[in-house]
Amino acid sequence: MDRSDAPSATGTPPAARPDDHVVVLFGATGDLARRKLLPGLFHLAKAGLMPRRFRIVGTTPASAALGDDEFRAHARQAVAEFGRTPPEGPAWQEFEAALSFGAADPDAPEPLVAAVRAAEQAVGGTPRRLFHLAVPPVAFTSVIDLLGATGLARDARVIVEKPFGTDLASARALNATIHAVFDESRVFRIDHFLGKEAVDNILALRFANGLFEPVWNREHISHVQIDVPEKIDIQGRAQFFEGTGTFRDMVVTHLFQLLGFVAMEPPVALEARALRDEQVKVFRSMRPLDPADAVRGQYAGYRDEPGVDPASDTETFVALRVAVDNWRWAGVPFHLRTGKALAEGRHQVTIGLREPVLRMFPLDARTAAGGRGNALVIDFADPGSLTTRLLVKEPGADMRLAEAEMVFGYDTSFTSEHSLEGYEHLILEAMLGNQSLFTRSDGIERLWELSAPLLDAPPPVRPYAPGSWGPDAIDALVAPHRWYLPDRHRDEGP
Ligand code: BG6
Repeated sequence: MDRSDAPSATGTPPAARPDDHVVVLFGATGDLARRKLLPGLFHLAKAGLMPRRFRIVGTTPASAALGDDEFRAHARQAVAEFGRTPPEGPAWQEFEAALSFGAADPDAPEPLVAAVRAAEQAVGGTPRRLFHLAVPPVAFTSVIDLLGATGLARDARVIVEKPFGTDLASARALNATIHAVFDESRVFRIDHFLGKEAVDNILALRFANGLFEPVWNREHISHVQIDVPEKIDIQGRAQFFEGTGTFRDMVVTHLFQLLGFVAMEPPVALEARALRDEQVKVFRSMRPLDPADAVRGQYAGYRDEPGVDPASDTETFVALRVAVDNWRWAGVPFHLRTGKALAEGRHQVTIGLREPVLRMFPLDARTAAGGRGNALVIDFADPGSLTTRLLVKEPGADMRLAEAEMVFGYDTSFTSEHSLEGYEHLILEAMLGNQSLFTRSDGIERLWELSAPLLDAPPPVRPYAPGSWGPDAIDALVAPHRWYLPDRHRDEGP
């Protein structure tokens, strides 16, 4: 099906299709390319969302170079292992034929340059070039320099992976390096959380529904929680993790970006500049992080992981209380939590609404309902869901309140046929040149600036048991509120 030519069966307008492209994957044999990028590109091709004509060039330093056929075999294995659609049939053959490889070292970029030229000739005309830097941050600068020096960067776009810097000074230096070669309109700093359907749905929910926007402020909302516990431990990534820690790996990137979407003012239009202006305004309104409002944790056993310093102070868990000091949010705490080796893997934003002032219901009727007011719960796991928690009258002679839920689930409401994973969605947007869901240079610099007090004086890490919800101190951090996870009301039954 060519979605760019015909309206879909449901009458929705066809999705835009990018111009012809040569996509170059730096780090083509790495973990990210294997798990996400190669399977994602194939899924886009299968869904008819890749450009009409495209080529994908894989690249690594010469010491790890592959031949074209080896790269195709590598891609096939990656798609078979991690893809949603098996690498079979004509669609795979066509995709496979579009793959090639060219090694590049700073002093020997020729094989890559030749591979890109050959790919461009195969596409014909003047295809766009998109570079995806799926390489460790230490390699960003040399790759950018190489793209500048070879001329490959001319008119091209670049996707830069996280973490973008480790503090304000390094983020500024990295921005300067990038801007020497790519102007900001061609830079796509990726955060795969922003590609998740349910995160985009925060915009739809807030700005397309008269039901929610009027209450989306300090008058009606008492607190907000952004909770991303992970069940997985560091999964052998000691080298990356020891130098990064959970705050830099998850908070500065994913959780703050979500906060930007939850807290933003209505943008004048759903386009990149307006959206990113509003997001950056939120970051400007945030108060610098106070170490007293942070709990750092480390799971028991982390120091025994291979490659981890036995005296490591790296955190595998962070909980924070964050203040957004503007007219909409003053006095409303934002509670953030994320960590490894926790009880469950969840992605949840909870908007806690104030209780009504008029307490006409008897106290015992309210406490029977768990003492909780209304909440809106956005679960952005794939597929996502949206739950409104309310209090209703329990059937029976007495006026007793009970907690109930109204649930919208993506999987039960829509077909997942057209759904894209975070990375797929974002690579497509980068090919379309739409920066709406990518972090801007001033935004990321502001986030590092806010983080400085915590990075300069981090509280000591507290141990927690694997399979728990983190150190005990997190309860005091959010008092008088409570963490919504675990779902106590579910465990306790009605
Ligand atoms: C990555 C982090 O960016 O996001 C990982 O580096 C983390 O440490 C992952 O596990 C979580 O992403 P998701 O989409 O699996 O929740």
